[in-house]
Amino acid sequence: MRVIVTPPRRLAGTVQVPGDKSVSHRAGLLGALATGPTEITGFLESLDCLNTLRALQALGVEVTRKGPGEYRIGGAGPGGLQEPDNVLDCGNSGTSARLLLGVLAGQPFWSVLTGDDSLRRRPMGRVAEPLRQMGASVVGRGEGSRLPLAIRGARPLKGLRYRSPVPSAQVKSAILLAGLFADGEVSVEEPAPSRDHTERMLRGFGCRVRVDGRSVTVTPGGDLRGHSIRVPGDISSAAFFLVAGAIVPGSAVTVSGVGVNPTRTGLLDVLGEMGAELGISDRQGDDEPGATLTARASRLRGARLGGALIPRLIDELPILAVAAAAAEGVTEVLDAAELRVKESDRIATLGAELTKLGARVEERADGFRIRGGAPLRGAVVRSWGDHRIAMALIVAGLVAEGQTVVEDTQCIATSYPEFLTTLNALTSEPCAYPEGAPA
Ligand code: S3P
Repeated sequence: MRVIVTPPRRLAGTVQVPGDKSVSHRAGLLGALATGPTEITGFLESLDCLNTLRALQALGVEVTRKGPGEYRIGGAGPGGLQEPDNVLDCGNSGTSARLLLGVLAGQPFWSVLTGDDSLRRRPMGRVAEPLRQMGASVVGRGEGSRLPLAIRGARPLKGLRYRSPVPSAQVKSAILLAGLFADGEVSVEEPAPSRDHTERMLRGFGCRVRVDGRSVTVTPGGDLRGHSIRVPGDISSAAFFLVAGAIVPGSAVTVSGVGVNPTRTGLLDVLGEMGAELGISDRQGDDEPGATLTARASRLRGARLGGALIPRLIDELPILAVAAAAAEGVTEVLDAAELRVKESDRIATLGAELTKLGARVEERADGFRIRGGAPLRGAVVRSWGDHRIAMALIVAGLVAEGQTVVEDTQCIATSYPEFLTTLNALTSEPCAYPEGAPA
């Protein structure tokens, strides 16, 4: 699908974004392992999260859709998962694949996991290796480091103290989930703290979790107790509207009900540092805190990003690159080599596609440097099958002179099927629409 983008006069209004992708996956997975049902509201009904639910059903878990974003997960209990009779297809979803591997490491049967072209290229050894150390058998392509992978779990697994070479919540979560089936404590130390949704949710289910600096420890034993979970709006989806509000002249965009877990709010810190006029109101306390966020059109300046900030905004770097292109001065992103193993090599794809629009982007091994302020001009660009690149390019098109065409945008449905509808709700005339659709 090709999306045609033309600059709107301004963006104005209040929108909501769908449920957080990371929290939705975890709510399904932990609900499945719990004793008693878990009722979820605000579940993200995107392809990625639906892949997790389908895999759980294939493992014998009862999943009932009660309404939009409303699900009941029948807890299978600690010994309740069953050997699936077919391959579990995770589609484009790295979170489904890696977190499921963690759960399956503790199941005494064989499962086979696969994914789409992109996911089959992404590294799985970072999860498979520690799970092997705990006693699971994981075999497959690339010496057991690429999907399709077959995993046979063990029960109990061995306790482990693992030092992860990468700050990755997927690696940490897979090991902690496997830890539920271990005969001793399991801890993961990271080079910098990554998103902590698993830790928070495990506690919500009654599990003992200890955090000590960059190290997290789970103590197995004791059932997880099913309960009600409200998923907050996804800050990674809100990010596109906040940046659009900051760079389209005359705009004021409010997004309500957004999750503002501090391990996810690096975007807000950086936009503030770049000079964006941001408002945060209506804070709600919860296991996962939420708030209403507003961005007004502002003169942005470049910023330097690296170190422990990077895991707090890793998924927002594509849209931050667009903000950097619209800003005055230089933006430099360091310590972000993880971008190379996302749904696409985001350093390469951002470099190639933003350059076509007239941005001055230099690639680095572990990030990029953008000299902002060059006027963007409409062009034909493509997503490389990466949802966040597709949405970032659509936002770039809002400030590019003339018409921008973004190719290969079906992938947006992996995380945010309603993205275009919500974007157009902020303008008087549609500013981005599928080719051939009435403007
Ligand atoms: C996620 C963790 C991040 C992020 C991904 C979702 C999660 O990946 O990029 O979109 O839900 O745990 P890594 O753990 O590989 O950094």
